[in-house]
Amino acid sequence: MNKDLFVMTERKANLFNIKCLIVIIGLGIATLILNELNFFTVNKDAVIFSMIPAISFAFIPIMIYLIHDKILKKDNSILELPYFKAIVLVFCFLCVMILCVILSFHTILLLVIPTLLAAQYKNNKIMALASLTASLVSVVIVVYASLLVGIYDANLMKPLTLDEAASFENRLNLLTRKRIFEILLHYVIPRLISVAAIDFIALSINKRNDEMLDIQLSLTQKVQEESDARAKMHNGLIEHLADIIESRDIETGEHIKRTKNYVTILVNKMKEMDQYKDYLDDKMCDNIISAAPLHDIGKIAVSDLILRKPGKLTDDEFAKMKIHTTKGGEIINNILNELGDEDFLKVAYDIATSHHEKWNGSGYPNGLKEEDIPLAGRIMAIADVFDALVAERVYKKPIPVEDAINIIINDSGTHFDPNIVEVFKEVKDDFIKEANSKK
Ligand SMILES: [Fe+2]
Repeated sequence: MNKDLFVMTERKANLFNIKCLIVIIGLGIATLILNELNFFTVNKDAVIFSMIPAISFAFIPIMIYLIHDKILKKDNSILELPYFKAIVLVFCFLCVMILCVILSFHTILLLVIPTLLAAQYKNNKIMALASLTASLVSVVIVVYASLLVGIYDANLMKPLTLDEAASFENRLNLLTRKRIFEILLHYVIPRLISVAAIDFIALSINKRNDEMLDIQLSLTQKVQEESDARAKMHNGLIEHLADIIESRDIETGEHIKRTKNYVTILVNKMKEMDQYKDYLDDKMCDNIISAAPLHDIGKIAVSDLILRKPGKLTDDEFAKMKIHTTKGGEIINNILNELGDEDFLKVAYDIATSHHEKWNGSGYPNGLKEEDIPLAGRIMAIADVFDALVAERVYKKPIPVEDAINIIINDSGTHFDPNIVEVFKEVKDDFIKEANSKK
């Protein structure tokens, strides 16, 4: 069985059994009260002397659990420790055994408890042990009741008089061979058969549950494999698309890799912050980082003459360059639509279309303002501009990293989201490290 699943099963079994012990305590206390109110005709002293140790035994595992987990608040829950189930079962046996002696008219029902509790652990050896112990307990009860207490029918409803029961010799005299045979035939064998029948049913249920669990596990594994294959295809497709862009222009290709790293630095810092934690969960962060390489995918539609032009672009050329944002959105919609991952598709679309928008509304293609610009686009904008500044392009020389940092900070609230610029300030050393590593 999978290790985590095994620990979870053990933990749940221990918790369930502790709850059962609490029920046993409740029933024990109820029996004491009802007996005191003469609801039962069982000897009062006998009930008190059997119930109190039984309840105390049931208390022990509960107290160990409460002290360890709730009061000491240990990291490793005691419910997951392998020896804890032994404590629960041993004390359960003890209290059941004591209860059996006094409430012999319920013996068979009580003998079921250890087997059923053991069945929780989904372990046939423990169940076999519980069954064996329950069988031995049933024999011990009859022997104890017959020989030591002097009650042949193992029922304290009609105890012998004190005088009759007082003499051990009296009891031995009453224990004839015929009587021993009767005890075996009427009490021991039926109890053993009952315990065996209950064990058989519990084992069958356990086996059936195991089969169901196996089916469920294999289905989960299959779903996981399909999901992994899908993720692999997803990532492969993104890398392939990024490679296509890279094949157009080596500078653009390197830019794609670096900007992904800058986005990763920003996103990893932002997801730790309270103000972003509702939006930037693990899935969203993965989506933004994975989609970052696609931000300039629309450049496929831009002519090489513009893309590789060494000098400044004319107004007309710049207008053509601008369409890489909307074109990028179209390409993402057309190609990735088939993948069915709507969250990723939305993030990739936002990044491609809005990474040139500006906080003050002077960007393109839609002139979006402030928080109307998708968050992923605002993050991408800083990574994109920072890399454009520090990297060499066909039309310009790189500028020093420190100057690029100042430009980003100075453009806070005009070009860039001021909140993300604050994050940028906190991680600027990582940006410097990343920029220098590529030189
Ligand atoms: Fe761009």
